[in-house]
Amino acid sequence: MYVSQQAVNNNSNLKNMLGSDHLEIHETAFVTSAFRATDVNLSGDHFAYLWNNPKAEKWAEEYLTKVSSEETFTHCLRNRYFLDKIKENIIKNGIEVLINFGAGFSMYPFLLDQKIIHIEIDKPEIVAHKKYKIEQWQNEDLLPKRNIQFVGVDFSKEFKEGLLATIDSVKGKKKCFILIEGVLFFLDREETDSLFQLFNLIQDTGDIIGSASFQDNLKQTLAFKRLLNFFGEKVSKTKASDYQTIQDSYYREISGYSLVDHQDYFSLSKTYSHEILQDRELILNENFYLLQKI
Ligand SMILES: C[S@@+](CC[C@H](N)C(=O)[O-])C[C@H]1O[C@@H](n2cnc3c(N)ncnc32)[C@H](O)[C@@H]1O
Repeated sequence: MYVSQQAVNNNSNLKNMLGSDHLEIHETAFVTSAFRATDVNLSGDHFAYLWNNPKAEKWAEEYLTKVSSEETFTHCLRNRYFLDKIKENIIKNGIEVLINFGAGFSMYPFLLDQKIIHIEIDKPEIVAHKKYKIEQWQNEDLLPKRNIQFVGVDFSKEFKEGLLATIDSVKGKKKCFILIEGVLFFLDREETDSLFQLFNLIQDTGDIIGSASFQDNLKQTLAFKRLLNFFGEKVSKTKASDYQTIQDSYYREISGYSLVDHQDYFSLSKTYSHEILQDRELILNENFYLLQKI
């Protein structure tokens, strides 16, 4: 369950894949980081630049031209919102552990107080690469030391038992914030239901889930059609039905939780005084939810 030698070997495959003309789902993590690095004041991610590399920048540029140029800001604001909400809940709600499902190359461990414990979960090749690079940057004094447990799993396979044991041993009875952002789009409803059931098992009263997803009406926009074309060229999935959208009602009806906040790109732009540049049709408007366990 921890980062295996096999995963470390896959690390070199990861570098090779980034060189190809085909974008794997897990490689989207590089592109997301590249977006967060473009406006550090907005994203609050002072370390995203570390993940920049020529291939990721080429992917990011192509994505901005072919899908939506607003995507740098949507990703910056998503990071900023969750960063601020995690900080707020550390103070108000005594959160001590952040569990990030599909963490990619997000840098929350280094943007939060050093007392926070982190469990970062993603595909084995991603966590192996992240662990390797973070250790390298810590040795070079580019990053401070943090308490991070990396776990490599695939949410589309059998993974719960081992993951639960790891989380139990790291978290114990401490209060936790579970984050899942930029991931549900790539999963199906059954996998999503199964993850939320797992969250319920992990969490106790007062604990928080932060989740990001798109709503059904996104599929009518020009931005989404462009996204499908882009993914059609670059990723194996090509149909609208290959990508999951989630209505508000899904979050309102999750048993054992109450919906305590709901934002989207437009509301966050107001909160953080960000000027929107594109028409609504050309924006991939993401919705952000905070749920609290009752
Ligand atoms: C667009 S990135 C987002 C990364 C990060 N959450 C962020 O916001 O920067 C999507 C991430 O989800 C992970 N992911 C997608 N499908 C997954 C699966 N079936 N199992 C584990 N991780 C998955 C990918 O590996 C990737 O790191």
